[in-house]
Amino acid sequence: MSVPKYKIPEMIDLPDRRWPAKSITHSPQWCSVDLRDGNQALPDPMDPDQKLEYFKMLCDIGFKHIEAGFPSASQEDFDFFRRLIEESHIPDDVFIMGLTQCRPHLIDRTLEAFKGLKRGIVHAYIAPSDLHMMQVFGLDRKTTIERAVASTRQIRELADTMPESDIRYEFSPEDFTDSDLGFSLEICETVFEAWGKATPEKPLIMNLPATVERRPPNHYADMIEWFCRNFSKRDCITVSLHSHNDQGMAVAATELALMAGADRVEGTLFGHGERTGNVDLVTCINNLYSRGIDTGMDFSNLAHVAETVERLTGMPVYYRQPYAGSYAFTAFSGSHQDAVNKGVHKLAEAPERFGMGWKVPYLHIDPADLGRKFERLIRINSQSGKGGIAWVLEQDFGIEIPKAMQPELGKHVQAYSESVGREISADEVHTVFQNEFVSPEGPYELVGYWPRPDDNDPTFIHGEIKVKINDEEKTVEADGNGPISAFVAAIRKMVDVDFSVADYHEQAIGKGADAQALAYVPLKLAGNGVIFGVGADSNIDQAAVLAIVAGLNRIAKNS
Ligand code: KIV
Ligand code: ZN
Repeated sequence: MSVPKYKIPEMIDLPDRRWPAKSITHSPQWCSVDLRDGNQALPDPMDPDQKLEYFKMLCDIGFKHIEAGFPSASQEDFDFFRRLIEESHIPDDVFIMGLTQCRPHLIDRTLEAFKGLKRGIVHAYIAPSDLHMMQVFGLDRKTTIERAVASTRQIRELADTMPESDIRYEFSPEDFTDSDLGFSLEICETVFEAWGKATPEKPLIMNLPATVERRPPNHYADMIEWFCRNFSKRDCITVSLHSHNDQGMAVAATELALMAGADRVEGTLFGHGERTGNVDLVTCINNLYSRGIDTGMDFSNLAHVAETVERLTGMPVYYRQPYAGSYAFTAFSGSHQDAVNKGVHKLAEAPERFGMGWKVPYLHIDPADLGRKFERLIRINSQSGKGGIAWVLEQDFGIEIPKAMQPELGKHVQAYSESVGREISADEVHTVFQNEFVSPEGPYELVGYWPRPDDNDPTFIHGEIKVKINDEEKTVEADGNGPISAFVAAIRKMVDVDFSVADYHEQAIGKGADAQALAYVPLKLAGNGVIFGVGADSNIDQAAVLAIVAGLNRIAKNS
């Protein structure tokens, strides 16, 4: 059943479309419209100082085309243009762009703002869509073309009076994707003729906007391919994209349209802009970078860019924003954490196995390229697996949990995370480990154990164990083939638990006088599984017996 209120957009008549078989192999030109389309859609637009800071950041990232405002629309935008020029803030290789409607007095004012500029782009727009012409302006096609042509001639005449400036021209048939393609081509061809001085070296920028995303991305690509194939002097124009994100597909539309032959992309950082925003350039640019394309842009400190944009726009970057979101490179689930860990440790094998320097499960790009760190990759919540939990303890505290103990630890950490109902920090994981395995509450406390070798057979051990059981101190003699087996044999006489100790794992933490031994001891219960205890001491034997006492306390707690 169809919904009569809406209709399926008509396909573009391009049966021999070629773009689906193409790949993006090189970078387009990038143009930031943050200071115009982005700024005009902010609840609190930026003040001039904020705009200047933003402008400088855009230059640092590497943008060569920056739409700095709509100088005829407000005194503030006009003054900002003048400030950029008069205070020499514009790097020599950067073009600043100013938007204007196709109206004579607005064009005069725009060119006024450009005085003394080294390089600039005058950007004029008019809508050739029936929707705009009929419902908004009450214009017909003929008058729309006449306005576009008259405006173009006026811009050219004014630009010609400024020979010291390199002034280029951009024309946008606004709402291109909702306009008749043939008519859009006609108006663009006529504007091209009116400008009259576009060359391959100084092309006219034909910016073809998806002003509102009303169609699927493949339609945009079809329209761009059709336009590129039908424009008479293709080599004298730069075909530029300008997509908005109303259906959430602006990045996809932009990529398909690049495959279809476009040369340039306009957008904003993190997709600021009218309604759902313009296409997000951080995503577009880093998508291409992640596929091995040199984009000429520097996002090696993306956190700084994100922080600056958040501060200046007053709008937060979403947690899951590609590349910049705080969770963009975070693995919560255990299997993902484990896979990331393994992949990172096997990176050296990637070039031979996959023909590329970076190939890691669940991470399509190296976070370090964006100035992000591995330590923050693994986060712990109730879905996290044992591998990730062990990884956090190893990374942050140098504690190497033996494989056999990891499921038990995982259970306790998950239970804790569930009880607090949120993600937990590495410190909290450490506290769970400490409270549960190293110093669990219980009836047993080791007061002292002093093992000494037998006078005749130094491999045989004698000793005395002092233990408090429910605060009552008891002493027993210990004899055995080593300090640990002597301790086990003796303490078994004092506690009501049938257990043995098999292989246990030791680890040194720290160096020199501060070095500590950690002993992870599995207590094997007669017919009833294994419980781990962990002990820490500067002496390895003391660490092991403390681990046994910790294990006994855990058994008492669980029984
Ligand atoms: O979205 C749009 O069509 C625009 C034009 C002014 C280029 O912003
Ligand atoms: Zn726009």
